[in-house]
Amino acid sequence: MRVLVIGSGAREHALVLSLRRDPAVSALYAAPGNAGIAQHAQVRPVDPSSAEAVVALATELAADLVVIGPEVPLVLGVADAVRAAGIACFGPSAAAARIEGSKAFAKDVMTAAGVRTAHSEVVDNPAELDAALDRFGPTWVVKDDGLAAGKGVVVTADRLAARDHGAELLEQGHPVLLESFLDGPEVSLFCLVDGETVVPLLPAQDHKRVGDGDTGPNTGGMGAYTPLPWLPEETATAIVEDVVKPVAAEMVRRGCPFSGLLYAGLAIGAAGPAVVEFNCRFGDPETQAVLALLESPLGELLNATATGTLAEVAPPRWRDGSAVTVVVAAENYPGRPRLGDVITGVGEGAPDDAAVLHAGTAQREDGALVSSGGRVLSVVGVGADLAEARAKAYDRIASIKLPGSHYRTDIGLAAVENRIAVPNR
Ligand code: GLY
Repeated sequence: MRVLVIGSGAREHALVLSLRRDPAVSALYAAPGNAGIAQHAQVRPVDPSSAEAVVALATELAADLVVIGPEVPLVLGVADAVRAAGIACFGPSAAAARIEGSKAFAKDVMTAAGVRTAHSEVVDNPAELDAALDRFGPTWVVKDDGLAAGKGVVVTADRLAARDHGAELLEQGHPVLLESFLDGPEVSLFCLVDGETVVPLLPAQDHKRVGDGDTGPNTGGMGAYTPLPWLPEETATAIVEDVVKPVAAEMVRRGCPFSGLLYAGLAIGAAGPAVVEFNCRFGDPETQAVLALLESPLGELLNATATGTLAEVAPPRWRDGSAVTVVVAAENYPGRPRLGDVITGVGEGAPDDAAVLHAGTAQREDGALVSSGGRVLSVVGVGADLAEARAKAYDRIASIKLPGSHYRTDIGLAAVENRIAVPNR
């Protein structure tokens, strides 16, 4: 099977590494990829959001399967164009990708499917912002009502900060989404979905704030771990049965069946799981940890999803133990990150239990590896338990040098210290 992966982040690096382990994958390409991906797949330049360019490349490479990593091409219909060219594609149609691209569509689907989610209101007129804020609180959740890679979200008990963020978004011409705050520990559950067939992967937890102890602004994600020792088996089952399956069935009913990876972001509160958001693609940085534990051939799972035969393949098998991803970010991320700094200590041949995945990296003309994005690297530790996986990741990070960079030192720590509990019903 000849596979082309679209995207350039650590998520795509993780997909490429996992696909490379699948003996059925005979040729592996990535576009545009990054400096790390280039060590494992042939990289080709492409604009991931150009359906024409992606189809042309997939055709030239005689790809049997195209795997689309990021949400923007999916929302723009790149998967539709690939399928229309007769090539199997892992990723939903533009109509189905609205589950991430349109908050109003997602809420509508959830309401019809009877799925618990936050109450929300969209504000598109500055004159209405204050009155709308009065209907929320004491914790305000203020989001950019569009694709903002997690960075458009402010969660705060400070009404003034909530107002300032809302006003700034409106000034930039972005409608604002206000949501009621959902209490409880968060879970990211990724499911392969092919119409009404839903196959869950391991549950994971992201760490969205930039600083230790969940302080500072929201980011695209600073680290993640899997599995979740504190999540009862029956809660994980309830997420699949009561949340993801009803949503998948509702999408089929509406004539826009989902095919690809449906990412349910949930808060586990006293009343049970409630949806914070749905995404239409693998999450970053959770994927880096989840795929590190996957034993089944990834190509087979993705191809089965893409070709409507997911119900026929064996459920995924997982390696025992835990995996932890720690994101190394550039100076000033999530603000305007400083780019172009030389990175050393990444090295070739990192052991499998402490992989260094690239995100914002580039190869300078003189061969030096330099930072080219806010989230620069994902270091993934795998161990017999969460404590060991953390130790592996942080030991590996200690040998990496990037001036001004920062990372959280507490990824997965609350779980190791048994400080996370599902509230009693
Ligand atoms: N982990 C957050 C995201 O992928 O959107």
